[in-house]
Amino acid sequence: MKPCCSFLAIVVLAAMGASARAQTAAPDAAALYQDKCASCHGAERLGAVGPALLPDNLGRLGQKGAEMVIRDGRAATQMPAFGAEIDDAGVKALASFVYGKPAATPRWGRDEIGASRVLTPAPAADRPMFAADPLNLFVVVEGGDHHVTILDGDKFEPITRFASRFALHGGPKFTPDGRYVFFGSRDGWVTKYDLWTLQVVAEARAGINTRNIALSRDARFIAVANYLPNSLVILSAADLSVLKIFDVADRAGQSSRVSAVYQAPDRGSFIAALKDVPEIWEIATQGPATEPLPLRRIAITAPLDDFFFDPGYRHLIGANRDGTQAVVVALSEGREIATIPLPGMPHLGSGISWVRSGQRVIATPHLRDGKISIIDTATWTAIATVPTEGPGFFMRSHENTPYVWTDSFMSKENKDLIQILDKNTLAIVRTLKPAPGKTTAHVEFDRSGRHALVSVWENDGALIVYDAATFAEVKRLPMSKPVGKYNVYNKITFSEGTSH
Ligand code: HEC
Repeated sequence: MKPCCSFLAIVVLAAMGASARAQTAAPDAAALYQDKCASCHGAERLGAVGPALLPDNLGRLGQKGAEMVIRDGRAATQMPAFGAEIDDAGVKALASFVYGKPAATPRWGRDEIGASRVLTPAPAADRPMFAADPLNLFVVVEGGDHHVTILDGDKFEPITRFASRFALHGGPKFTPDGRYVFFGSRDGWVTKYDLWTLQVVAEARAGINTRNIALSRDARFIAVANYLPNSLVILSAADLSVLKIFDVADRAGQSSRVSAVYQAPDRGSFIAALKDVPEIWEIATQGPATEPLPLRRIAITAPLDDFFFDPGYRHLIGANRDGTQAVVVALSEGREIATIPLPGMPHLGSGISWVRSGQRVIATPHLRDGKISIIDTATWTAIATVPTEGPGFFMRSHENTPYVWTDSFMSKENKDLIQILDKNTLAIVRTLKPAPGKTTAHVEFDRSGRHALVSVWENDGALIVYDAATFAEVKRLPMSKPVGKYNVYNKITFSEGTSH
């Protein structure tokens, strides 16, 4: 009797104690963070071994998602599970803490970027270390476990696979000779990789939260579009040293995040989309040496997010914020020349272009509606709408194929479908379901246009190689959430079937 009762008493007392503690002391998230997390995520949450934990960086993870990661950890990574040592209230407090804005905006200027820079030059090489066609390589970004695979684009066999920075963002950028590729990561890291010697040769952290990077046509400059701080950073593409930092603000001094930066090869410039102010920036990369990297401001009616350029880079087409229309800006004139009603949130960033019955058209998927819009670039009007199985994200084609491939990535029920349409008739000629129930998205063609590579966008995903003419599956390679794949030749030749 006695042992039983005292045991019960202890249980009751312990339970009372726990609830008393929970009621009295609200967890001190800042102290808990310094104690348990700062060693890996940095005292100021800017990241170290682990990624930066700031609201803009965490984005889509969400507070509930963060709670889960803190409680359960992430399998096969260095992120431990804290469920056994931190109670529920503590976990919730930490998740809300990492989603809180830091008391002071962290600084990330010339000194911080310079101090982050690491150079690891490769041994001299006058040709690639492998037998595959160096211009038909695919760079496959695997977001599931933050790796990159370099794939032989003829045999579809991996040549090497290496760990990347956490969460690569935006497409990688290639030097015109196809030798070097640059990656940008969510947390601001720029990585320069040598495709001939297969090694990282330079890294620098150009921001705390970065959207994407661009490389100038002459391969001298890298531009980095940042959300935090509000800066556009220009690095030397040779060694990633800082050349110039633009603190981004409009003429009136209103500060702005940079949504994205692009190379306009025909104009010898970078073009940047600003998130918070109605301006587009153009920075000449081939200007006179007396005034390096001069800035030109193009005033627009309202901020434009998501850009597409017509071939020749004479016009920019951007989506307005509420996703109801596209605005066309003539770049040389520096003014808006047309608006095109396009309800359903066009995703112009992954638009593509081709010539159809003598007319140059642009096609864009929509993030909210299941359709593709076809725009005539002579009149800047939408001339056709092709209904699809669901709202999509990417589309791709190639000069040597009569088809366009698109996904239903944003759909609830049809995420596993890929649809193929005829560039001339605009009819859907085939619907593929490569992996039933699994998200399937992002297509890229090989150099010749004979094969299309499709991603099964899951942690235990795959890259599926299709014959682009018969739509027959040729090969399936396991990959960890292959969020993007990039063919060296199609990128350096600015193929009209892919985004840049
Ligand atoms: C031993 C190092 C380490 C410690 C300690 C650590 N983390 Fe992490 N954490 C990581 C790594 C590495 C990742 C990235 C995992 C991956 O690759 O997905 C991560 C990921 C995360 C993520 C997800 C970030 C994202 O963008 O997906 C959150 C949230 C997080 N950690 C919170 C915490 C909190 C809160 C603590 C303290 C209670 C903590 N971590 C302690 C290493 C650590």
